[in-house]
Amino acid sequence: MRKPAALEVRYIIGAACRDQFPSEELPEVAFLGRSNVGKSSLLNCLLGGGQYARTSSTPGCTRLIHFYRVGGDFLFADLPGYGYARVPKEMQAGWRRLAEDYLLSRKRLAAAILLVDSRRGWMEKDLELKDWLEFHGRPYLVVATKVDKLNQSERSRGLAAIRSRMRNGEEPIPFSAVTGQGTKEIWQAIWKTQNRR
Ligand code: GTP
Ligand code: MG
Repeated sequence: MRKPAALEVRYIIGAACRDQFPSEELPEVAFLGRSNVGKSSLLNCLLGGGQYARTSSTPGCTRLIHFYRVGGDFLFADLPGYGYARVPKEMQAGWRRLAEDYLLSRKRLAAAILLVDSRRGWMEKDLELKDWLEFHGRPYLVVATKVDKLNQSERSRGLAAIRSRMRNGEEPIPFSAVTGQGTKEIWQAIWKTQNRR
């Protein structure tokens, strides 16, 4: 595994709209997925287990795109979760606008990491987002979260279900923020986007 040099992490900004996105002098990794799927937990794990991003058991609490500079190597963007049923329609439209602005405007997007709960598999909104990313030719990889909550056979079944809706030859990366499983593989996939593993 190759973590960025000193892994010095700096919080840059919580952006509510495009004007507030930071200038882009680094390749960027975005974390996308349903509310509560584990985006902030994954980001914290990748950054060495600190509490950089706020995690919460109350879904839908992140409303901004939080940007972090990771060493001299990457920007990480923690996007708000979608799909929380109790969020009013206007706020869902707000999410869509912010996410699309982000995903279409960032020229140095190295990968969008699309998180899917390994227990639930693909939900309609996840598939919509995946299709959208493919349609717009944005690079992404799929991470199956919370695998610690499944036993061996549930895990293989869950991963197979996720794989069945992916492009030929592509695999979800199993991940647990509790055990740290998958952290190394996700870093490898991130470095691979830069062709310098
Ligand atoms: P929003 O920002 O609200 O969209 O949520 P999020 O996707 O950032 O999820 P977050 O990382 O805040 O995690 C949501 C809840 O799931 C928290 O209670 C976490 O502790 C828990 N959680 C996250 N990842 C894991 C995991 O791998 N295993 C287990 N068992 N719990 C997890
Ligand atoms: Mg979050």
